[in-house]
Amino acid sequence: MYVFVTGASGWIGSATVDELLAAGHEVTGLARSDASAAALQAKGVRVRRGDLDDLASIRAGAEAAEAVIHLANKHDWSNPANSAAAERAAVQAIGDTLAGTSRPFLLASGVAGLTQGRPATEDDPSPFYGPDSPRGGSENLALEFVDRGVQTVSLRFAPTVHGSGDHGFIAAIAAVAREKGVSGYPGDGTNQWAAVHRSDAVRLVALGLAKAPAGARLHAVAEEGIPTRDIAEAIGRAFGLPVASITPDDIQGHFGWIGTFFGMDLAATSTATRELLGWAPAGPTLIEDLDAGAYRPGHAEWLGAVRQAGV
Ligand SMILES: NC(=O)c1ccc[n+]([C@@H]2O[C@H](COP(=O)([O-])OP(=O)(O)OC[C@H]3O[C@@H](n4cnc5c(N)ncnc54)[C@H](OP(=O)(O)O)[C@@H]3O)[C@@H](O)[C@H]2O)c1
Repeated sequence: MYVFVTGASGWIGSATVDELLAAGHEVTGLARSDASAAALQAKGVRVRRGDLDDLASIRAGAEAAEAVIHLANKHDWSNPANSAAAERAAVQAIGDTLAGTSRPFLLASGVAGLTQGRPATEDDPSPFYGPDSPRGGSENLALEFVDRGVQTVSLRFAPTVHGSGDHGFIAAIAAVAREKGVSGYPGDGTNQWAAVHRSDAVRLVALGLAKAPAGARLHAVAEEGIPTRDIAEAIGRAFGLPVASITPDDIQGHFGWIGTFFGMDLAATSTATRELLGWAPAGPTLIEDLDAGAYRPGHAEWLGAVRQAGV
Protein backbone atom coordinates (compact mmCIF):
# COMPACT_ATOMS: atom_id res chain seq x y z
CA MET A 1 0.00 0.00 0.00
CA TYR A 2 1.12 3.56 -0.66
CA VAL A 3 0.98 5.39 2.69
CA PHE A 4 1.30 9.10 3.48
CA VAL A 5 2.76 9.55 6.97
CA THR A 6 2.81 12.87 8.82
CA GLY A 7 5.24 13.11 11.72
CA ALA A 8 7.35 10.53 9.85
CA SER A 9 10.54 11.88 11.43
CA GLY A 10 9.23 11.73 15.01
CA TRP A 11 9.75 9.20 17.79
CA ILE A 12 6.78 7.04 16.83
CA GLY A 13 6.71 8.10 13.17
CA SER A 14 10.29 7.13 12.33
CA ALA A 15 9.81 3.62 13.76
CA THR A 16 6.40 3.39 12.06
CA VAL A 17 8.04 4.16 8.73
CA ASP A 18 10.60 1.38 9.31
CA GLU A 19 7.78 -1.03 10.18
CA LEU A 20 5.80 -0.07 7.06
CA LEU A 21 8.82 -0.42 4.78
CA ALA A 22 9.62 -3.82 6.28
CA ALA A 23 6.02 -4.88 5.57
CA GLY A 24 6.45 -3.91 1.91
CA HIS A 25 4.52 -0.65 1.91
CA GLU A 26 5.60 2.45 0.03
CA VAL A 27 5.84 5.58 2.14
CA THR A 28 5.77 9.31 1.58
CA GLY A 29 6.67 11.27 4.70
CA LEU A 30 5.79 14.86 5.51
CA ALA A 31 8.93 16.80 6.45
CA ARG A 32 9.15 20.41 7.54
CA SER A 33 12.93 20.73 7.69
CA ASP A 34 15.99 19.77 5.66
CA ALA A 35 17.16 17.51 8.50
CA SER A 36 13.87 15.59 8.64
CA ALA A 37 13.75 15.33 4.85
CA ALA A 38 17.31 13.98 4.72
CA ALA A 39 16.61 11.40 7.44
CA LEU A 40 13.59 10.13 5.50
CA GLN A 41 15.38 10.11 2.15
CA ALA A 42 18.21 8.08 3.68
CA LYS A 43 15.64 5.34 4.33
CA GLY A 44 14.36 5.43 0.77
CA VAL A 45 11.20 7.26 1.74
CA ARG A 46 9.69 9.84 -0.59
CA VAL A 47 9.43 13.27 0.99
CA ARG A 48 6.65 15.81 0.82
CA ARG A 49 7.90 19.09 2.18
CA GLY A 50 5.39 20.98 4.32
CA ASP A 51 4.31 22.21 7.68
CA LEU A 52 1.24 21.16 9.64
CA ASP A 53 -0.17 24.62 8.95
CA ASP A 54 0.34 24.13 5.22
CA LEU A 55 -2.99 22.41 4.65
CA ALA A 56 -2.58 22.40 0.87
CA SER A 57 0.48 20.17 1.24
CA ILE A 58 -1.32 17.88 3.67
CA ARG A 59 -4.32 17.59 1.33
CA ALA A 60 -2.06 16.84 -1.62
CA GLY A 61 -0.23 14.17 0.37
CA ALA A 62 -3.51 12.53 1.41
CA GLU A 63 -4.95 12.78 -2.10
CA ALA A 64 -2.02 10.94 -3.65
CA ALA A 65 -1.93 8.09 -1.11
CA GLU A 66 -3.92 4.91 -0.53
CA ALA A 67 -3.80 5.43 3.24
CA VAL A 68 -2.84 8.19 5.69
CA ILE A 69 -1.18 7.80 9.09
CA HIS A 70 -1.24 11.11 10.93
CA LEU A 71 1.38 11.29 13.69
CA ALA A 72 2.63 14.89 13.45
CA ASN A 73 1.95 17.15 16.39
CA LYS A 74 3.43 20.51 17.31
CA HIS A 75 3.70 19.51 20.99
CA ASP A 76 3.89 23.17 21.92
CA TRP A 77 3.49 22.66 25.66
CA SER A 78 3.73 26.40 26.32
CA ASN A 79 0.73 26.92 24.03
CA PRO A 80 -1.41 23.76 23.91
CA ALA A 81 -4.23 25.63 22.15
CA ASN A 82 -1.89 26.22 19.21
CA SER A 83 -1.07 22.50 18.98
CA ALA A 84 -4.74 21.58 19.29
CA ALA A 85 -5.83 24.01 16.58
CA ALA A 86 -3.19 22.70 14.16
CA GLU A 87 -4.14 19.12 14.99
CA ARG A 88 -7.84 19.74 14.36
CA ALA A 89 -7.21 21.60 11.11
CA ALA A 90 -4.96 18.81 9.80
CA VAL A 91 -7.52 16.13 10.71
CA GLN A 92 -10.27 18.11 9.01
CA ALA A 93 -8.13 18.52 5.89
CA ILE A 94 -7.22 14.82 5.73
CA GLY A 95 -10.82 13.74 6.40
CA ASP A 96 -12.23 16.05 3.74
CA THR A 97 -9.68 14.75 1.25
CA LEU A 98 -10.37 11.07 1.96
CA ALA A 99 -14.17 11.41 2.14
CA GLY A 100 -15.90 8.87 -0.08
CA THR A 101 -12.71 6.90 -0.81
CA SER A 102 -12.99 4.14 1.86
CA ARG A 103 -9.27 4.65 2.46
CA PRO A 104 -7.67 4.04 5.87
CA PHE A 105 -7.00 7.12 8.00
CA LEU A 106 -5.09 6.29 11.18
CA LEU A 107 -4.47 9.10 13.62
CA ALA A 108 -2.59 9.45 16.89
CA SER A 109 -4.52 10.04 20.06
CA GLY A 110 -4.14 9.32 23.75
CA VAL A 111 -5.91 7.98 26.83
CA ALA A 112 -5.93 11.13 29.00
CA GLY A 113 -9.30 12.22 30.31
CA LEU A 114 -11.27 9.25 28.99
CA THR A 115 -12.33 7.89 32.40
CA GLN A 116 -12.23 8.76 36.07
CA GLY A 117 -11.22 6.18 38.69
CA ARG A 118 -10.82 3.18 36.39
CA PRO A 119 -8.65 2.20 33.43
CA ALA A 120 -9.89 3.41 30.04
CA THR A 121 -11.06 0.81 27.54
CA GLU A 122 -11.58 0.95 23.80
CA ASP A 123 -15.33 1.19 24.47
CA ASP A 124 -14.90 4.50 26.27
CA PRO A 125 -15.60 7.25 23.75
CA SER A 126 -13.59 10.42 23.99
CA PRO A 127 -15.53 13.14 25.84
CA PHE A 128 -13.66 15.77 23.83
CA TYR A 129 -15.58 17.55 21.10
CA GLY A 130 -14.85 20.80 19.36
CA PRO A 131 -11.84 23.01 18.80
CA ASP A 132 -11.46 24.14 22.41
CA SER A 133 -11.13 20.63 23.83
CA PRO A 134 -7.85 18.71 24.37
CA ARG A 135 -6.16 17.76 21.08
CA GLY A 136 -8.84 19.88 19.40
CA GLY A 137 -11.34 17.05 19.76
CA SER A 138 -9.50 15.45 16.86
CA GLU A 139 -10.37 11.82 17.62
CA ASN A 140 -14.10 12.47 17.49
CA LEU A 141 -13.72 14.71 14.46
CA ALA A 142 -11.82 11.96 12.63
CA LEU A 143 -14.36 9.30 13.66
CA GLU A 144 -17.18 11.45 12.25
CA PHE A 145 -15.64 10.84 8.82
CA VAL A 146 -16.56 7.15 9.05
CA ASP A 147 -20.07 8.19 7.97
CA ARG A 148 -18.51 10.01 5.02
CA GLY A 149 -16.73 6.94 3.72
CA VAL A 150 -13.38 7.12 5.49
CA GLN A 151 -11.86 4.13 7.25
CA THR A 152 -10.87 6.06 10.36
CA VAL A 153 -8.88 4.24 13.04
CA SER A 154 -7.81 5.97 16.24
CA LEU A 155 -4.42 5.02 17.65
CA ARG A 156 -4.65 5.71 21.35
CA PHE A 157 -1.06 5.57 22.55
CA ALA A 158 -0.24 5.01 26.21
CA PRO A 159 1.14 8.21 27.77
CA THR A 160 4.58 6.75 27.51
CA VAL A 161 5.72 5.10 24.30
CA HIS A 162 9.07 4.30 25.78
CA GLY A 163 12.47 3.12 24.65
CA SER A 164 16.05 4.20 24.14
CA GLY A 165 16.09 7.64 22.50
CA ASP A 166 12.59 8.64 23.69
CA HIS A 167 12.31 12.40 24.17
CA GLY A 168 8.70 12.32 25.39
CA PHE A 169 7.07 12.44 28.81
CA ILE A 170 9.40 10.09 30.71
CA ALA A 171 12.43 11.94 29.36
CA ALA A 172 10.82 15.18 30.56
CA ILE A 173 10.17 13.74 34.03
CA ALA A 174 13.74 12.44 34.19
CA ALA A 175 15.02 15.87 33.13
CA VAL A 176 13.10 17.50 36.01
CA ALA A 177 14.56 14.94 38.43
CA ARG A 178 18.11 15.67 37.29
CA GLU A 179 17.56 19.42 37.41
CA LYS A 180 16.01 19.35 40.90
CA GLY A 181 18.30 16.65 42.28
CA VAL A 182 15.34 14.59 43.43
CA SER A 183 13.09 12.14 41.60
CA GLY A 184 9.60 13.21 42.59
CA TYR A 185 6.24 11.51 42.39
CA PRO A 186 2.89 13.24 42.77
CA GLY A 187 1.23 12.89 46.20
CA ASP A 188 1.23 9.30 47.40
CA GLY A 189 2.33 8.09 43.96
CA THR A 190 -0.55 5.68 43.52
CA ASN A 191 -1.90 7.28 40.34
CA GLN A 192 -0.98 5.06 37.42
CA TRP A 193 0.33 5.39 33.89
CA ALA A 194 -0.19 2.94 31.07
CA ALA A 195 2.90 2.21 28.98
CA VAL A 196 4.00 0.59 25.75
CA HIS A 197 7.40 -0.02 24.21
CA ARG A 198 7.89 1.76 20.88
CA SER A 199 8.50 -1.52 19.02
CA ASP A 200 5.11 -2.84 20.15
CA ALA A 201 3.36 0.44 19.41
CA VAL A 202 4.50 0.57 15.81
CA ARG A 203 3.65 -3.11 15.24
CA LEU A 204 0.14 -2.16 16.32
CA VAL A 205 0.09 0.75 13.87
CA ALA A 206 0.98 -1.60 11.00
CA LEU A 207 -1.59 -4.18 12.16
CA GLY A 208 -4.20 -1.43 12.42
CA LEU A 209 -3.47 -0.36 8.88
CA ALA A 210 -3.81 -3.91 7.61
CA LYS A 211 -6.78 -5.17 9.63
CA ALA A 212 -8.65 -2.62 11.77
CA PRO A 213 -12.25 -1.86 10.77
CA ALA A 214 -13.55 1.66 10.28
CA GLY A 215 -14.29 3.39 13.58
CA ALA A 216 -11.90 1.25 15.65
CA ARG A 217 -10.26 2.76 18.69
CA LEU A 218 -7.02 0.84 19.25
CA HIS A 219 -5.18 0.94 22.55
CA ALA A 220 -1.40 0.83 22.18
CA VAL A 221 -1.08 -0.27 25.79
CA ALA A 222 1.22 -3.06 26.98
CA GLU A 223 1.15 -2.27 30.70
CA GLU A 224 -2.20 -1.22 32.11
CA GLY A 225 -1.01 0.98 34.96
CA ILE A 226 2.34 1.58 36.62
CA PRO A 227 2.18 3.58 39.87
CA THR A 228 3.96 6.90 39.42
CA ARG A 229 5.91 6.14 42.59
CA ASP A 230 7.44 3.08 40.87
CA ILE A 231 8.34 5.27 37.88
CA ALA A 232 10.00 7.86 40.14
CA GLU A 233 11.92 5.15 42.01
CA ALA A 234 13.24 3.72 38.73
CA ILE A 235 14.30 7.21 37.60
CA GLY A 236 15.98 7.67 40.99
CA ARG A 237 17.90 4.38 40.49
CA ALA A 238 18.85 5.34 36.93
CA PHE A 239 20.33 8.68 37.91
CA GLY A 240 21.42 7.97 41.49
CA LEU A 241 18.90 10.44 42.92
CA PRO A 242 16.81 10.41 46.09
CA VAL A 243 13.08 9.84 45.64
CA ALA A 244 10.42 11.97 47.29
CA SER A 245 6.72 12.72 47.28
CA ILE A 246 5.72 16.09 45.84
CA THR A 247 2.62 17.47 47.55
CA PRO A 248 -0.35 18.12 45.27
CA ASP A 249 0.01 21.90 45.79
CA ASP A 250 3.63 21.77 44.60
CA ILE A 251 3.15 19.54 41.55
CA GLN A 252 2.94 22.35 38.98
CA GLY A 253 5.76 24.32 40.58
CA HIS A 254 8.04 21.29 40.82
CA PHE A 255 7.34 19.53 37.54
CA GLY A 256 6.23 22.43 35.32
CA TRP A 257 4.07 21.49 32.30
CA ILE A 258 4.71 17.76 32.68
CA GLY A 259 3.17 17.93 36.18
CA THR A 260 -0.29 18.20 34.62
CA PHE A 261 0.18 14.75 33.11
CA PHE A 262 2.30 13.13 35.83
CA GLY A 263 -0.40 14.01 38.37
CA MET A 264 -3.13 12.30 36.33
CA ASP A 265 -4.38 8.75 36.45
CA LEU A 266 -3.63 7.50 32.94
CA ALA A 267 -4.32 3.77 33.21
CA ALA A 268 -5.83 1.93 30.25
CA THR A 269 -6.44 -1.61 29.08
CA SER A 270 -5.93 -3.14 25.64
CA THR A 271 -7.92 -6.38 25.91
CA ALA A 272 -10.19 -5.51 22.98
CA THR A 273 -7.27 -4.40 20.79
CA ARG A 274 -5.38 -7.63 21.45
CA GLU A 275 -8.47 -9.72 20.64
CA LEU A 276 -9.32 -7.71 17.53
CA LEU A 277 -5.87 -7.78 15.95
CA GLY A 278 -4.00 -10.62 17.66
CA TRP A 279 -1.53 -8.04 18.94
CA ALA A 280 0.76 -9.34 21.68
CA PRO A 281 3.22 -6.80 23.09
CA ALA A 282 6.65 -8.34 23.66
CA GLY A 283 9.02 -5.45 24.31
CA PRO A 284 10.64 -4.47 27.60
CA THR A 285 8.54 -2.88 30.33
CA LEU A 286 9.00 0.77 31.25
CA ILE A 287 10.83 -0.11 34.47
CA GLU A 288 13.08 -2.57 32.57
CA ASP A 289 13.92 0.22 30.11
CA LEU A 290 14.69 2.68 32.91
CA ASP A 291 16.81 0.11 34.77
CA ALA A 292 18.70 -0.69 31.55
CA GLY A 293 19.66 2.97 31.20
CA ALA A 294 17.42 3.78 28.24
CA TYR A 295 16.94 7.32 29.53
CA ARG A 296 20.57 8.04 30.32
CA PRO A 297 22.17 10.55 27.92
CA GLY A 298 24.03 8.86 25.11
CA HIS A 299 22.27 5.50 25.53
CA ALA A 300 20.54 5.70 22.15
CA GLU A 301 23.81 6.49 20.36
CA TRP A 302 25.60 3.69 22.22
CA LEU A 303 22.84 1.23 21.33
CA GLY A 304 22.95 2.34 17.68
CA ALA A 305 26.70 1.75 17.54
CA VAL A 306 26.34 -1.69 19.13
CA ARG A 307 23.66 -2.64 16.62
CA GLN A 308 25.70 -1.31 13.71
CA ALA A 309 28.67 -3.35 14.87
CA GLY A 310 26.40 -6.40 14.94
CA VAL A 311 27.32 -7.17 18.54
N1 LIG B 1 5.39 9.48 22.39
C1 LIG B 1 4.41 9.22 23.22
O1 LIG B 1 4.66 8.67 24.32
C2 LIG B 1 2.97 9.54 22.87
C3 LIG B 1 1.96 9.19 23.77
C4 LIG B 1 0.64 9.47 23.44
C5 LIG B 1 0.35 10.10 22.23
N2 LIG B 1 1.36 10.44 21.39
C6 LIG B 1 1.02 11.11 20.12
O2 LIG B 1 1.56 10.36 19.04
C7 LIG B 1 1.95 11.26 17.99
C8 LIG B 1 3.41 11.06 17.67
O3 LIG B 1 4.17 11.34 18.84
P1 LIG B 1 5.77 11.33 18.86
O4 LIG B 1 6.17 10.98 20.24
O5 LIG B 1 6.31 10.53 17.74
O6 LIG B 1 6.08 12.87 18.62
P2 LIG B 1 7.46 13.57 18.25
O7 LIG B 1 8.62 12.65 18.41
O8 LIG B 1 7.48 14.87 18.97
O9 LIG B 1 7.32 13.85 16.69
C9 LIG B 1 6.45 14.82 16.22
C10 LIG B 1 6.48 14.80 14.71
O10 LIG B 1 5.66 15.89 14.26
C11 LIG B 1 6.43 16.69 13.38
N3 LIG B 1 6.02 18.07 13.53
C12 LIG B 1 6.04 18.84 14.63
N4 LIG B 1 5.61 20.07 14.36
C13 LIG B 1 5.32 20.07 13.04
C14 LIG B 1 4.83 21.07 12.17
N5 LIG B 1 4.59 22.31 12.58
N6 LIG B 1 4.64 20.72 10.87
C15 LIG B 1 4.92 19.48 10.43
N7 LIG B 1 5.37 18.49 11.22
C16 LIG B 1 5.57 18.80 12.51
C17 LIG B 1 7.88 16.51 13.82
O11 LIG B 1 8.73 16.89 12.78
P3 LIG B 1 10.28 17.25 13.03
O12 LIG B 1 11.00 15.93 13.06
O13 LIG B 1 10.65 18.08 11.87
O14 LIG B 1 10.36 17.97 14.34
C18 LIG B 1 7.87 15.03 14.11
O15 LIG B 1 7.98 14.29 12.92
C19 LIG B 1 1.62 12.67 18.50
O16 LIG B 1 0.33 13.02 18.09
C20 LIG B 1 1.64 12.47 20.01
O17 LIG B 1 0.90 13.47 20.70
C21 LIG B 1 2.66 10.17 21.67
